[in-house]
Amino acid sequence: MPKLIIKGGRVLDPSQGIDEEIDLCIDKGVIKRLEKDILEPEAEIIDAQGLIVAPGFIDIHAHLREPGQEYKEDIESGCRSAVAGGYTTLVCMPNTEPPIDKPWVARYIESRACSVGLCKVLPAGTITEGRKGKKLADLWALKEAGCVAFTDDGSPLMDSSLMKKALELSAQMEVPIMNHCEDDRLAVGSINEGEVSSLLGLSTRPPEAEDLLNARDCILAYYTGGHVHIQHLTTELGVEIVREFKAKGAKITCEVNPNHLLLTEEEVIGAGANARVNPPLRRKRDREKLIEALADGTIDCVATDHAPHHPSEKGLVDRAMPGMIGLQTALPILLELVREGRISLMRALELLTLKPAQIIGIDRGSLKPGSAADITIFDADRRWTLNEETNLSKSRNTPLWGRELVGRVIYTIKDGRIVYKLH
Ligand code: NCD
Ligand code: ZN
Ligand code: ZN
Repeated sequence: MPKLIIKGGRVLDPSQGIDEEIDLCIDKGVIKRLEKDILEPEAEIIDAQGLIVAPGFIDIHAHLREPGQEYKEDIESGCRSAVAGGYTTLVCMPNTEPPIDKPWVARYIESRACSVGLCKVLPAGTITEGRKGKKLADLWALKEAGCVAFTDDGSPLMDSSLMKKALELSAQMEVPIMNHCEDDRLAVGSINEGEVSSLLGLSTRPPEAEDLLNARDCILAYYTGGHVHIQHLTTELGVEIVREFKAKGAKITCEVNPNHLLLTEEEVIGAGANARVNPPLRRKRDREKLIEALADGTIDCVATDHAPHHPSEKGLVDRAMPGMIGLQTALPILLELVREGRISLMRALELLTLKPAQIIGIDRGSLKPGSAADITIFDADRRWTLNEETNLSKSRNTPLWGRELVGRVIYTIKDGRIVYKLH
């Protein structure tokens, strides 16, 4: 592999507080130096004038559907979509068929991702066997097989006693327990409970369903010392719960999904089933609070919850499978908040790089010399549309389909190798 020099870009690295026009030299897959006007006659050059150079993005919540549901997505198509969105590392969710509740499934995923060779894929194991919520999976064996987190995502873990045990183990293992927080006796329907559900006569998932489980998990983290990670936070009260228990010293981290930062419950009126997701799109005031919490640090990171489904599963709202694709639209959504002055560009990038790396405890998300050369180069002003030509996922379930977006990835570099280049 020849040396690679990224020239003339605006380098932004939250891990070092750098925001400067500077060159970056990569050798043997590792970042060698950041300096003005690097000259290396033999090196390959990437001209990054007018572009932003950042650490490769890290998504700690993606559904890749392999094994078992390859008609929606597979590891290869998911990784193609990921690198086009600027991601170099993904944590894939265990609601596959079979689920990631045995070491061999985790190993299979890592080896498939390795042979695809685009993006690092780290599996999340289930908390309970078969995601059934009855008996803990062998978390030690799953950790040994490469799992970096545990979650029954797709379903909440309702049993408080099992959640407590999992968090006690988490404290010993130093691995986060993630939960999809929605009480399944209350969240039985399809969209947020409120004006839109009444107007359309649709079944509901009320915000208190989410707040109850979120509060329970924060309380259990407080007592056990385990690390709980709240997945896809959506409510106003949820932000306050997390803030309160973090202040008490509990080990809590939480993520927000870009779609909840952009869209609200009204979206269902126009987009129908493509606007259905769990937890659902909420009210404007919830969205507002989430954006505030992004800025003030209550929310730790942005994770896509990329959840591909086949068009045949996205018919009537009340019968549709929940979820939206999101790997290629996260950056433009965050850049919109930057343009509106709601968060700084540095903070947006921290939410996509350093913070998610810290949550799962991996040595990535930095451009410090000596780090693995995982780098995303993007044009913050480039206009484009997610459509048949640009979408690299096998699925197309998002209300953003056909909408103009601003901000596009031009190059993605993984361990010093160009894994995506916009043509
Ligand atoms: C996810 C899926 O489709 O797997 N759907 C969703 O609405 N978010 C499951 C999940 O994240 O809970
Ligand atoms: Zn979930
Ligand atoms: Zn999910």
